[in-house]
Amino acid sequence: MTEKIGCIGGGQMGEALIRGIIQSGLYQTGDIIVSEPDAKRRDYLKATYAIRTAEDSLTLWQECDIVILAVKPQIMASMLREARLHIQDRHLLITIAAGLPLHFYSECISSETCRVIRVMPNTPALILQGASAICGNHNVSAADLEKAQSIFSAVGTTVVLDESYLDAVTGLSGSGPAYVFTFVEALIDAGVKCGLARPVAESLTLQTILGSIKLLQESGEHPAVLRSRVASPGGTTIAGLHVLEKAGFRGIIMDAVEAATDRSKMLGKS
Ligand SMILES: NC(=O)c1ccc[n+]([C@@H]2O[C@H](COP(=O)([O-])OP(=O)(O)OC[C@H]3O[C@@H](n4cnc5c(N)ncnc54)[C@H](OP(=O)(O)O)[C@@H]3O)[C@@H](O)[C@H]2O)c1
Repeated sequence: MTEKIGCIGGGQMGEALIRGIIQSGLYQTGDIIVSEPDAKRRDYLKATYAIRTAEDSLTLWQECDIVILAVKPQIMASMLREARLHIQDRHLLITIAAGLPLHFYSECISSETCRVIRVMPNTPALILQGASAICGNHNVSAADLEKAQSIFSAVGTTVVLDESYLDAVTGLSGSGPAYVFTFVEALIDAGVKCGLARPVAESLTLQTILGSIKLLQESGEHPAVLRSRVASPGGTTIAGLHVLEKAGFRGIIMDAVEAATDRSKMLGKS
C-alpha cells in the first residue's frame, strides 16, 4: 500500500504545498487528501489537481500517516481538540501555523508521544520559491525530518534548526518578503523622482533585483565583493552608497529583523 498524505486546510498555503508535492512527483494525486470546509474551494482543488477532498478530516486521519496542518493559528486548538481521538502516534503532524510552539500541539491533543514537526515557510512558497525552516519535537526521528524536508523542498529551500531559532527565522525569512517589497517600491519611486516613467522604473527595478540575486547565486561571491566591483573610484555608485551608509541603512535592516524577532517571541509567549 502506498503512503498517503493529508492536508487539513486547502487555503493559499495548503494549495501551494499540494502543487509542489504533485509537481515534484513525491506523491501521486490519488494519494493526497485535503480536508476543507468550503465546498467551492474543495471543488476547485479537486478539479485543478485531481486530488481527493473531504469536508471533514475523519477520512484523512484514518488513511494518512503524514498530516499537514495548514489552518490559521486561531483555529488550530479547536480543530486539534475535535480530532484528538483520531490522532495516533503513527501520525506525523507537520504544522505551518505561524507562532504556535511545538509544545502547544502535544498539549492540545494531550499526548506526550505525538510526533510534531513545525515549519516556518514564507510567501514565495506560493510560487514554489519559498524558504522554510523546520524543527521537530523530541519524538521526531531523523527520517521524519527528512520527509518534511522533501515535502518543503518541493516549494523552495529548507533548513533544519532547533526550535529556539524559529523567532529569528520569522524575523528574517518570514517577514523578509515584506522588507524586499518595501525596498522594491522605494527603488521604483526613486526612479520616478529622477524622471523615469513609472513602467520603465518598475521594469528596470525588478530586473535589477532579479539579476543581482542570480549574479550572487551563480558567482558564489560574497555580496561585499560584488558591491565593490560596481563602485568605481569617484563614480556614481559610491556616491549613492555613501548616502545609504550615512543614513545607517544596514543598521536599520538589522533593527527591523531584530524587532520582528522580538515581536515573534512576544506573540509566542502570549
Ligand atoms: N500565507 C503565507 O504566506 C504563510 C506563511 C507562513 C505560514 N503560514 C501559515 O499557514 C497557515 C495557512 O495560511 P493560509 O495563508 O494558507 O490561510 P488560508 O488561505 O486562510 O487557509 C486556511 C484554510 O483552512 C480552512 N479551514 C478552516 N477551518 C478548517 C478545518 N477545521 N478543517 C479544514 N480546513 C479548515 C479555511 O477555510 P475557510 O476559509 O472556509 O475558513 C481555509 O481555506 C496559517 O497557519 C499561517 O500561519 C502562511
